[in-house]
This record gives sequence, C-alpha cells and structure tokens, in this order.
Amino acid sequence: MEINLIAMKLAVVGATGLVGQEVLKVLGERHLDIDELIPVASKRSAGRLLNFNGVENKVVDIDQALELKPDAAIFSAGGDISLKYAPLFAAVGCTVVDNSSAWRMNPKHKLVVPEINGNQLTRDDKIIANPNCSTIQMVLVLAPLHAKYGLKRVVVSTYQSVTGTGKAAVDQLMAERAGQEGGKVYPHRIDMNVIPHIDVFQENGYTKEEMKMINETRKILGVEDLALTATTVRLPVVGGHSESVNIEMKQNFDLKDIYSILNEAEGVEIVDNPANNEYPMPLDAQGRDEVFVGRIRRDESQINSINLWIVADNLRKGAATNAVQIVELLQAKNLIG
Ligand code: A2P
Repeated sequence: MEINLIAMKLAVVGATGLVGQEVLKVLGERHLDIDELIPVASKRSAGRLLNFNGVENKVVDIDQALELKPDAAIFSAGGDISLKYAPLFAAVGCTVVDNSSAWRMNPKHKLVVPEINGNQLTRDDKIIANPNCSTIQMVLVLAPLHAKYGLKRVVVSTYQSVTGTGKAAVDQLMAERAGQEGGKVYPHRIDMNVIPHIDVFQENGYTKEEMKMINETRKILGVEDLALTATTVRLPVVGGHSESVNIEMKQNFDLKDIYSILNEAEGVEIVDNPANNEYPMPLDAQGRDEVFVGRIRRDESQINSINLWIVADNLRKGAATNAVQIVELLQAKNLIG
C-alpha cells in the first residue's frame, strides 16, 4: 500500500553541530517527505550554506527560523536554547523533537524511543523529548526483557565516546593526540585517560548523566521505582558508547530465550561469538543505527541475573536517528501540523 505523506517544512536547530550534522545525514538516508529544510545555527553561522540531498540551504538563526513557522523542528543546540525556544516554536504550531535534557523529566512531555513507546504519541504532543544517548541504547535491550520477565534491578557502567560532548571535545582529544595544547572541554586530559565524571555532580554524589540514566529509564519503561544504579565514564573513544549491564530479573529464564527475545527486539542486533573474537565495539558501531549487544552470559553470583555488553553510535540511535524516527512516525501517522 502506498502511503501519501503530507510534505513538511522541517527545521534542524544546531545543524552545524555534531548531532545536527548527523541529523542531516540520517534525514537524507530515510524516506520522510520534506519540501523545505531549514538549517538553523547561531548568528555566527547564519548565511553559511549547508548541503542537504544535493541542495545548498542557507543557514538561518533561530529567530529567523521561528518566523518561517516550520511544521516540525529537531533541536540539538543545548538545553538553554531548548528551554527558551521550544515553547515559542510549539506556539506557532511546530512539533519540536528535542535532543537536550530540558524537557525529558517534565511530566507534561513524552520521552520517546519509537520502538518502545512511539505508539503513545498524539497530535497534541508539541514538545517531544529525545532521551539521553546512554539511556536509549540500554532501554532498547531492557524493554523486551522487562516485558517477559520483569526487571528487579539493573547495574550499569558506561564507557562513553567524546562525541557525546560535542565538536569541541573531539578537538580536545585530537589535539592532545597530536601533542598540541588546545582548549580543554574536560577538567582533565582525555587522551590516554579515563574520566569517571560526565555532566555535573549532584548532591547525592552521582553525576547528572548517571541520574539521567536512572530517571529516564524509569519514565520510558513506566516503572517509577525500578532499582537501577549507574556509573558513567568518559573514554578517549569516538565511535560510540559502550555499557556493561548487570540485570536481575524477577523470574528465571533460559539463556537461549534471552537470545531469541533480543534477536527479535526491533533495533537490536546480537553480536556474540567469543570463539571468533566477535563482540560489539564502538569501531564497528560507528555510523550504524542498530544497538549491538553481546557478551551475554549468566551472572553466576546471583539468581535470575545476566551480564551483557551494549554498544551503539551515540550520535545515531543515541541522538539523530532516534529523533528522525520520531518525526518519521509523526509524519506517517499524520500527527504533524
Ligand atoms: P554554531 O556552529 O553556529 O555555533 P556542538 O554541540 O557539536 O558543539 O553543536 C552545537 C550546535 O548548536 C551548533 O550547530 C551551534 O551552532 C548551535 N548553536 C549554538 N548556539 C546557538 C543559538 N543561539 N541558536 C541556534 N543554534 C545555536
């Protein structure tokens, strides 16, 4: 059956940034019907030309974009821009998919991973939050296990790529690697190092990134009191985020059933062949949309528990692809406008 999509005017806010650039790439690869693409960046970049699908589009600043009244907008320009401008765009009838953390825990707004809760979206959702990159890749694996066995407790440690911090962080890593002095985004050298500190520290001793993983997972799975604890760590890596996850379930399971559940989970791909040294790695995940899972094994120290290793490109499924999929879903269901 052929679906006739209603073409839309789409703004990409933060189009010159790492996530924004990936958004343009993903939009070019998928099948949305876009009749006008508006790249948006700071005043510094306004007037620059950005290529989208072979056409040069002029970058505008955010106030100019607002005047153009887009039907939908993907925001990846940081929390302050989102807090201020998402309501202004929504007020002119634009549906905003926001990559920042500004709206994620606001009970009035949905936090969406399309494969898990995309069916809850309605035309009234004018500001839709895209979850944190580390949360998205973990929750895609947790959701089908939760549906089948019920989650009792989750312990996660992350190994995160510098791309999650933005362009300036990649520049810091590359400058250090080349032996140059440059601007520092992190409080320490990142090359040849591991920094157990992502986003700001909270009063409880956790970082904001760790609390995002905990609170956002609870919201997406709809389990307010899910026992989950996280340690988030930055590595000198660019291809994607990795996560070591220990999952205790409410019921017992056969390991082979875990494989078949994850094999069928939308957006998840198993890479688990230790005999051939095959397991998920950021170098292989880079540029891909799948969430890769491997090293699946029973936790022999505790009943009903497994350990596994999850890797995904944080700029793709962790940010751009998830946001584009939300817009795609809204357009397919005619929920924009
Ligand atoms: P610009 O390139 O003009 O600074 P990253 O996180 O990779 O550094 O990207 C941040 C993105 O947010 C960039 O596209 C940046 O544009 C954009 N940005 C920063 N400030 C604003 C602003 N005031 N209005 C719109 N976009 C902004």
